[in-house]
Amino acid sequence: MSNVLVIGGGGREHAVCLALSKSKRVDKLFCVPGNAGIAQIAVVKPLSVFDFDGIYEFVKQNDIDLVFVTPDDPLAKGMVDYLSERKIRAFGPTSAAARIESSKVFSKNFMMRHGIPTAKSVVFDSADKAIEYLGSACYPIVLKADGLALGKGVLICADFDEAKRAVDELMIDKAFGDAGKTILVEEFLVGREVTVMAFCDGEHISLMPSSQDHKRAFDGDKGLNTGGMGAFAPSPYFTEAHKKEFVERIAVPTVKGLISEGITFKGVIYFGLMMTKDGIKVIEYNSRLGDPETEAVLPLLKTDLMDIVDACIDGTLDKLNVEWENKTGFTVVIASGGYPEKVVKGYEITIGELSGVTLYHAGTAIKDGVLVTSGGRVFELSGVGSDLESAKKLVYGQIDKIKFTDCRYRSDIGKV
Ligand code: AMP
Ligand code: GLY
Repeated sequence: MSNVLVIGGGGREHAVCLALSKSKRVDKLFCVPGNAGIAQIAVVKPLSVFDFDGIYEFVKQNDIDLVFVTPDDPLAKGMVDYLSERKIRAFGPTSAAARIESSKVFSKNFMMRHGIPTAKSVVFDSADKAIEYLGSACYPIVLKADGLALGKGVLICADFDEAKRAVDELMIDKAFGDAGKTILVEEFLVGREVTVMAFCDGEHISLMPSSQDHKRAFDGDKGLNTGGMGAFAPSPYFTEAHKKEFVERIAVPTVKGLISEGITFKGVIYFGLMMTKDGIKVIEYNSRLGDPETEAVLPLLKTDLMDIVDACIDGTLDKLNVEWENKTGFTVVIASGGYPEKVVKGYEITIGELSGVTLYHAGTAIKDGVLVTSGGRVFELSGVGSDLESAKKLVYGQIDKIKFTDCRYRSDIGKV
């Protein structure tokens, strides 16, 4: 039996905690910093995810055997390296491996080196040179900050004026700090977006069911890009033929490429894909589970998550048969009114009686004994159905039982 600590405090971490709490092999479960929902199934500790020394102390005090590092920032800053150096078992990529997400320039060059299909792009570290290039470019065009920018460092520009403003925002005003010191100017890909996440033990990979996220804030894909407003899994558009193409042209070359560059990636690789008329192309890699994709995908997992985590760390994933329900997972984000911009926190929440669904907390806290909102994405309501329609009906049939001031959700998740 193991004592396990999960790092992070959103709906994705709630889903990870719930899956681990069902494991026969987990004794005590802890989460840093967690949230009010996670506190119902794990001991939560309000430490910063960047307080590596504080987390190490907490691990020692509580005889924790394994740390599951979920969010991108602590992975990029080397939490797994730090813990491993101190002989603590940790699940997630090292800082060097997490560069497939933390540097878009690195990841683009990596794909070019290994012939992995992706959008064509040019790198700039001078605003003047970028603007000169954009003067004679084809539109729409995509500008991306090199570094991590809370999922907001990607700007799709319809014409030169918009592109010039985007260069100013990223490189001159430094809206995302040093993340925008270097930018990529990228060809705009047209097609359907699909996500495939995969467990990886450094050498072998095991694919999860495909999924689709809805990134824009409002129905009909209107409004600003968000971290994601809902998801479902699997995607009915990602056929067996697509899967074969993805494995041969993207997944296997990615793992082989990492090995050939001396990078041992252990954890979850998230492949953000565009199914274009010229084949499947990689939009981005993430070095972790997606949010809210995880809240749609993990409820389909039949295998004990601890067995998968151990196999990834020990390099034995090829020996494990990871099984998934042949059903559809569906999740809708319940957000605070201003999300993804200005968010008012501290609204009191009431939750009616729910049945056959799982309510993952994303941004909640307890204040004076009362459950209140504490973030932009407040909950994800998830359900599993025999198909997309039944899963959708199950979740939307109960979503209005969750109430707080300015509560908002998209009503068209799963409209494909
Ligand atoms: P990323 O952070 O790289 O996933 O980009 C955020 C979102 O921007 C993606 O989910 C896509 O919807 C969109 N996007 C990024 N790159 C491109 C591209 N080259 N062509 C079209 N859309 C893109
Ligand atoms: N939902 C997209 C992400 O987690 O990056």
